[in-house]
Amino acid sequence: MMRDLKTRLLAMVAFAIMVAGCGGEDAAHPMSTLAPRSDLANWINGLFMEITAWDLLILVIVIVAFTLAVFFFSTRVGEAGPPTAVSSDLTLEIVWTLGPALILLFISIPTVRLIFRTQPRKPVANELPITVVAHQWWWEFHYDDGSGAVTANELHIPAERPIHLKLVSNDVIHSFWVPRLGGKRDVVPGQVNEIHLISTIPGEYYGQCAEFCGVSHANMRFRIFVDKPDDFAMWEKSQTQPGAVPAEATAAMRGAQVFANSPCTTCHTINGISKGYVGPNLTHLASRTTIAAGVLANDPAQLTQWIEHPDEMKPGARMPDFGLRGAELNDLVAYLESLK
Ligand code: CUA
Repeated sequence: MMRDLKTRLLAMVAFAIMVAGCGGEDAAHPMSTLAPRSDLANWINGLFMEITAWDLLILVIVIVAFTLAVFFFSTRVGEAGPPTAVSSDLTLEIVWTLGPALILLFISIPTVRLIFRTQPRKPVANELPITVVAHQWWWEFHYDDGSGAVTANELHIPAERPIHLKLVSNDVIHSFWVPRLGGKRDVVPGQVNEIHLISTIPGEYYGQCAEFCGVSHANMRFRIFVDKPDDFAMWEKSQTQPGAVPAEATAAMRGAQVFANSPCTTCHTINGISKGYVGPNLTHLASRTTIAAGVLANDPAQLTQWIEHPDEMKPGARMPDFGLRGAELNDLVAYLESLK
């Protein structure tokens, strides 16, 4: 009995430490909703805190009532039996009917108000529209501001400008979630869901698909880079340029030939070279920090591994191993890594 109590106490302490560890501000907690970095995430965090405060109040009332009942209103040894039961007490009935109803009201009013606040009915001035297409198992981003920029798995947005994300799915239901910037919102085939947000703090924020969507659901990661407005403008401009053309007689040049003659062209777009729509646009692949939807670092060694064994790196990946090896593969990797 004693041991059981001790185990429970230890479990409670461990849980408290774990929960306390969720709220950090630093890089050790890159996916904490308790360290919000956008207006949307701030609102949601504020609501969470408000409701938690109500919950704490209820907890205190229950503990006080319980303590009073046990220590002050219980029958002692040697005392007469329990007092006569009252068949009904109108005041009490009203109190315990109205109490919970009021609590629910206090919770639902700010919740419903926030739901409406996050879904503005009129277009927001100066918004940057971006279409987010979820695929099994990666993310595609189209900038609908006339620039024509397209990228995958690493979304760049300017700080201090309203962002309008239009979420669509290419296959099954996914969920777009960047804990520090707000969300999460389901991405449903045949439907456009929306997220509006403004982030004022430049940085790199991690995202994750939050709806089970198949074997590589956990490998469907992404990043949002909140850039200073000037940096964003430069980045967006660079993304609209055609793919880099390698210098003559280099490995990258030979790799460009390998690419052009490979089945890769049927699935991947490189502006000016191929038009494929099944996999990510590779025109500026080398400007991204990760590959395979955030699962691998974007360096020659991991890119080589990825092309050789896509299914081992990401189970269920649509990209097959085309048997490219040796010099051919090295040249292809050199080419892809030259696509800044
Ligand atoms: Cu996409 Cu889970």
